[in-house]
Amino acid sequence: MTNQPLPEFPADFRWGVSTSSYQIEGAATEDGRGPSIWDTFSHAGGHIGDGSTGDVACDHYHRYADDVALMAGLGVRTYRFSIAWPRVQPTGSGPANPAGLAFYDRLVDTLLSHGIEPAATLFHWDLPQPLQDAGGWTVRDTAARFGEYADIVARTLGDRVRLWLTLNEPVVHLALGHLLGLHAPGLHLLDDPFPVVHHQLLGHGLATAAVRRHGSGAVGIANNYTPAWAVGADGTRGTADDADRAAAAVYDAFHNRLFTDPLLLGRYPAGIERLTGGDPESVILDGDLRVISAPLDALGVNYYNPTGVSGTSPDGPLPFELTALSGYPTTAFGWPVVPAGLTELLVTLHRRYGDRLPPIWITENGCCYDDVPGPDGTVADPDRIAYLDGHVRAVRAAMDAGVRVDGYCLWSLLDNWEWAEGFTKRFGLVHVDFATQRRTPKASYAWYRDLVARSR
Ligand code: FCB
Repeated sequence: MTNQPLPEFPADFRWGVSTSSYQIEGAATEDGRGPSIWDTFSHAGGHIGDGSTGDVACDHYHRYADDVALMAGLGVRTYRFSIAWPRVQPTGSGPANPAGLAFYDRLVDTLLSHGIEPAATLFHWDLPQPLQDAGGWTVRDTAARFGEYADIVARTLGDRVRLWLTLNEPVVHLALGHLLGLHAPGLHLLDDPFPVVHHQLLGHGLATAAVRRHGSGAVGIANNYTPAWAVGADGTRGTADDADRAAAAVYDAFHNRLFTDPLLLGRYPAGIERLTGGDPESVILDGDLRVISAPLDALGVNYYNPTGVSGTSPDGPLPFELTALSGYPTTAFGWPVVPAGLTELLVTLHRRYGDRLPPIWITENGCCYDDVPGPDGTVADPDRIAYLDGHVRAVRAAMDAGVRVDGYCLWSLLDNWEWAEGFTKRFGLVHVDFATQRRTPKASYAWYRDLVARSR
């Protein structure tokens, strides 16, 4: 970490924090909420590292007012949260569940009463289980259902939500949930995953249109991006050969372009058959790409780290191999800490999409460490402060290079339920004791508060 003062940001830059419904809300069966694929997956046993579920999580459903007060203490202008589809439509279709919608109504009003602008994600992976039983994102109908759900939500909240993100990280939902089986719904569709790509995108397009019918908030999507770095077997770039570079280009197309080219350019990257198998032409119907590529007001960028990619044998199951990068410090997840990767990817997006690129919001960025309260009850997390310091500078460097970035939502406000890792990975500015639900702001909370105060 450098001693240089942090750079200035424009006065209207939006500093914020991010969370997601299943990771914090709890109250899994309250007020008519239906089951989601994550309830099923976590309760099935064997999928979650510590055997936990999101039944209670951070109990945010009951403690949201305290949590909003924590945000107000930070001085942030934006809160990115997600709406649990099975609270709004317990079976994924049909009429709205008023009690479920009322929760988000209260949350939004509480945020506004503190001067915090609501940024709502419509789908952060908690699909209603009945829709999964009917095929989930493998079937086209789910996209239509998503459009209807978006319509219901926007009709209620459209007058107050300032930024909408339709989907969270469709590529991660595809890879971890539908290819590797590590996330819900736990599928291994290695031979024919393309319908999951296309129907998520179509759902995004239909939801975008629905939201625009009811409100004036900006509309975007939150994608995960990673610089794909060709590396040799030792995990360094210096030893990469042509096969590694070719593999990195394929991985780049899969991770960074498969969902973004259709959104911003109205076409899939060339050679998707190789990336996704199956027969894409039979899945893409006339007019779909027009719906998918309706211009966006914002592009959400979630960034954690670059990815090392190496070549593999031509008859291997995948056209690339992921190789851990060496030479960087790592977080408790083992993810390399590379702030310059964020500048690189923002500049690459700018160069790649030119004037098709809408203003960028960093919708997630953060890190996990094994934070433990000290004997005096405070939580020192110098590694998180160093991570954030580096990444905030990296955002500024991209802006200096001409990339328009309008906001930064840090992942995450609270330690929470980190998917397959359960409660073992702490990403919060605020420590949560999951046995008592006690919240303790970490040193990074004060650091972020000071950063926000300086830039206002
Ligand atoms: C992202 C997810 C978010 C959280 C962070 C650590 O991929 O969108 O829910 O799990 O990673």
